Amino acid sequence: MIFLIGGQKGGTGKTTVAINLVAQLVNMGKKAILIDADRQSSATHWADYREEDSTLMPIRCIQKFDNIKGTAIEMSELYDYVIIDTAGRDSREMRTGMFAADAVILPFRATQFDLLTLEHVQGVLEEIRDVNPSLEAHALLTQTSTNFRATDFKEAQDIFTDFPDVSLMNSVIKHRMIYQNSLAEGRAVTEMRRTGSSGASANREIKKLTQEVLSWH
Ligand SMILES: Nc1ncnc2c1ncn2[C@@H]1O[C@H](COP(=O)(O)OP(=O)(O)OP(=O)(O)O)[C@@H](O)[C@H]1O
Ligand SMILES: [Mg+2]
Repeated sequence: MIFLIGGQKGGTGKTTVAINLVAQLVNMGKKAILIDADRQSSATHWADYREEDSTLMPIRCIQKFDNIKGTAIEMSELYDYVIIDTAGRDSREMRTGMFAADAVILPFRATQFDLLTLEHVQGVLEEIRDVNPSLEAHALLTQTSTNFRATDFKEAQDIFTDFPDVSLMNSVIKHRMIYQNSLAEGRAVTEMRRTGSSGASANREIKKLTQEVLSWH
């Protein structure tokens, strides 16, 4: 299975989702690889930090730019799950990766500016589906408020009803410092120790997200 994490906007949480998903798959005993297709190399830096800690399950991370379709397909013959992290824009890597992908995960913050890019993303999906008609597109709301009174999730949910080509995931990733802190340690949130209730909540979010992704195929 090839899952591409993409979108037109920077900073939505693509790399955070990619590394937490690949780590959870590997920790579940699945054969999974991360392809870093963003020249910013955030995922590669994370993998480098991770390599220094021998107590963590090793995760293979390779970089590939420009046309990544061939590499994605080759890796899907060697691994059960290929997770591709792309840049925060409509890039050649995102489009060529989508040609090979089974599903694209589109992280969105529940803000007006992020959600305004939905129209462009829907246009890209239409073009890609001319070539890869079975490509699924799933939007994931990220960095949503942890305040129980917050309505950001509900308001964003309403906007998605206008975009039937993109299905909104049941999983949500809330704004929690542990997502930032774990990155610098080469860890997934599920691998952090002494995390308190926020860590436990993030742990549940990533496990739920992974189960939802696994339920697609
Ligand atoms: N759920 C979250 N809670 C708190 N901080 C988060 C969360 N998700 C991401 N962040 C932080 O927001 C910043 C952007 O996240 P990330 O790098 O994952 O986004 P991105 O979409 O990959 O960005 P880019 O478009 O630059 O590649 C990082 O500092 C990250 O630690
Ligand atoms: Mg990134």
